[in-house]
Amino acid sequence: MFRIEKSRRIKEVPPYLFAEIDKIKAEQIARGVDVIDLTIGDPDLPTPSDIISQMKKSIEDPKNHAYPSYIGMPEMRQAVAKWYQNRFKVKLDPETEVIILIGSKEGIAHLPLAFIDNGDYGLVPDPGYPVYKTSILFAGGIPHFLPLLKENHYLPDLDKVPQAIRNKSKLLFLNYPNNPTSATAGKEFFEQAIAFCRNHNIIICHDAAYTEIYFNEKKPLSFLEVEGAKEVGIEFHSLSKTFNMAGWRIGFAVGNSEIIAALGQIKTNIDSGCFKAIQEAGITALQKDLSETKKLREIYQERKDLIMSGLKKTGLEVEPPAATFYVWLPVPDGYTSMEFATHLLNQTGILTTPGNGFGPSGEGFIRMSLTASTERIKEAANRLASLSL
Ligand code: MLT
Repeated sequence: MFRIEKSRRIKEVPPYLFAEIDKIKAEQIARGVDVIDLTIGDPDLPTPSDIISQMKKSIEDPKNHAYPSYIGMPEMRQAVAKWYQNRFKVKLDPETEVIILIGSKEGIAHLPLAFIDNGDYGLVPDPGYPVYKTSILFAGGIPHFLPLLKENHYLPDLDKVPQAIRNKSKLLFLNYPNNPTSATAGKEFFEQAIAFCRNHNIIICHDAAYTEIYFNEKKPLSFLEVEGAKEVGIEFHSLSKTFNMAGWRIGFAVGNSEIIAALGQIKTNIDSGCFKAIQEAGITALQKDLSETKKLREIYQERKDLIMSGLKKTGLEVEPPAATFYVWLPVPDGYTSMEFATHLLNQTGILTTPGNGFGPSGEGFIRMSLTASTERIKEAANRLASLSL
């Protein structure tokens, strides 16, 4: 009989966290539960209308129907460089230091193929976006978790990485503002990370998808603002969260030209670039006045305040997020992450992500995403008020 034998690679990797959660959601809805979905960070707000108008025009243009450039249209790469200059005062060469991605997830997933050989280590924040770990496994590497602990402000303690692992590590993934903990990182932390990686010849891949979602005056940094960053690393960015374009699949990586070129080499062998009409819409997004993202922050601020007031009524002690649209909530004594997420779902219909889905150090937490409508968040806050622990 014909036997389908999956690779070791795929057997080693757990099912994708949010695909599993989708199944739970579908089951609950089928049972008639009015589910409030606070799981995946998938913005509910529409893409701004000027971006959509540009897309309508661009899709009609036959010149956009052919294969795009592998590394992105020159005009899009220039728009990225200008956006970085305006937002972070970081200078980028659009020819060599920018690559356009089919969403930053795609670039993150492919990057280790360029740098990890069998048995090499990749350093991964724990808890963290599941793709960091998976991409290292897919490349034949070994993920080494860096616990992000509350007492360290959810920054990894790089001094704790054992010497033998440092010597065999090729990549370090970082992500600030952080998913799922919502922590931010200052210049000092990035300086330490750069020094550590320079000493051990480790490439830094900083995922900066959430830099535009913040709640105080202190704007999150680009890692490339810090001296020496471009020597050791690259930064990933996404249009998904900043411009509500998650479904469009467009992002980019910027920084060290050799690292960018290596990622490009992988991509030329795997994909054929991002649809040109989407890139033209992306240019419109990046050319918007930076102040436009303020409206977005105000919406998330209102939602954050609503959910925090609902949580206060439960008696749970939760720190409000400084950035991102995630609330990282320690579960009450006596519950695991999964047990508390289930309890919350059963009592209130609120679906959240158990923290252990982001790695072992996420055990003891759940994550709430503020990407449901403000009305639904208001309803969630009301339901929380009646939660018994
Ligand atoms: C999340 O919910 O962690 C992220 O939104 C998922 C993603 O960006 O792919």
